[in-house]
Amino acid sequence: MSLYAIGDLHLHYQSVLKAANQLHDRVWKNHEEKFLKNCRKAITDEDTLVLVGDHSWGKNLSECERDFQYISDLPGRKILIRGNHDLFWDVKKTGKLNERFRPGLTFLQDSYETYRDYALVGTKGFTFEGPFYLDRWGRIVGWDEEARTHAKKLVERELGRLRKSFELAKADGYRKFIMFLHYPPTSILEERSGFTDMAQEYGAEQVIYAHCHGESRFHDSIQGDFQGIRYSLVSGDFRKWKPLKVLDG
Ligand SMILES: [Fe+2]
Ligand SMILES: [Fe+2]
Repeated sequence: MSLYAIGDLHLHYQSVLKAANQLHDRVWKNHEEKFLKNCRKAITDEDTLVLVGDHSWGKNLSECERDFQYISDLPGRKILIRGNHDLFWDVKKTGKLNERFRPGLTFLQDSYETYRDYALVGTKGFTFEGPFYLDRWGRIVGWDEEARTHAKKLVERELGRLRKSFELAKADGYRKFIMFLHYPPTSILEERSGFTDMAQEYGAEQVIYAHCHGESRFHDSIQGDFQGIRYSLVSGDFRKWKPLKVLDG
């Protein structure tokens, strides 16, 4: 009975693929088959698998049906966190998604799930990703102030959603937390953030995030121990489609 996580499956059985790297990079070739094989090797139906966002390229539910079928067919109990590309997922209609896909899939938003005596909390998160201005050596010398102000608003909203997730779990008596975000917890300008502070405040043991694709982005945020909390990037291409074992059963 272990807990696993991975993110960014970016399935596209019925929709248009919009990322060039997903067309050309070797790591993405037949990634659906690779991931399915790795899951079958590692995960049993007693285990829990958290999928940390960017599930599908589908623009709406009808374009995601086969993608959801693929996810449903993976072994274990499946919990989904929202990613920035998950256009099928309207936050306000999360209840409807849960009704429709219960018991196969659980969509976690403004709520929490449990694993043993842990509460699994999370939200999409957000980080400022530029535009940045670079000098001729590629160093950041400035950024678009308007975009940064907008990003701050989105960060605040996501922090509110994350706090709600923590508070609901806490009110039900949970004291052990694993925190999931789709976006990395810090932008490349930050060493800590509202998200790392919140992980600290509630005493999360681990923070799991995804979203960073390709070698050049894998080190955009924290990995390993920071202030006593373990941070792990689990984007599918970083993990080479092997789910990370977060907790051993
Ligand atoms: Fe992604
Ligand atoms: Fe993403």
